[in-house]
Amino acid sequence: MIAIGCDHGGINLKTAVMKYLDENNIEYKDFGCYSEESVDYPIYAYKVAKAVSNGDFKYGILCCGTGIGISIAANKVKGIRAAVVSNEFGAEMTRRHNDANILCMGGRVTSEKDAVKFADIFLNTPFSNDEERHIRRVKMLSDIENGDFDE
Ligand code: RB5
Repeated sequence: MIAIGCDHGGINLKTAVMKYLDENNIEYKDFGCYSEESVDYPIYAYKVAKAVSNGDFKYGILCCGTGIGISIAANKVKGIRAAVVSNEFGAEMTRRHNDANILCMGGRVTSEKDAVKFADIFLNTPFSNDEERHIRRVKMLSDIENGDFDE
């Protein structure tokens, strides 16, 4: 189950990605926003990030104008690894290496076609769970978050 959200700058990409999810029978919940009226991206980042953080949703997808603001906000929520993606390689590697749980994209920098492609790659790429170095590095992210990172 996917949690999806956007601000006014990313509603075009969110709509395109929801169409892809519908066509592929992938369940999701749309956390808004629902129009092109100007809104504050942290609101939607928080809703989606909390939904992923508390385990109700496996992954999140967030879109704003650049993907940046909404990713910064999402990454403030415990347990979230939100990644701004702008190419196919990034979509794959942030799952394989970072175990990213939220995909962020920008409606003013990424086409709808590319956004759908990046979402497809992101949702279908596993974490490199058998490679110790990636497990170690992702754990370090949690350690930093929890204030017990050992340099
Ligand atoms: C809204 O104009 C814009 O600032 C927002 O969509 C996003 O790009 C912020 O990072």
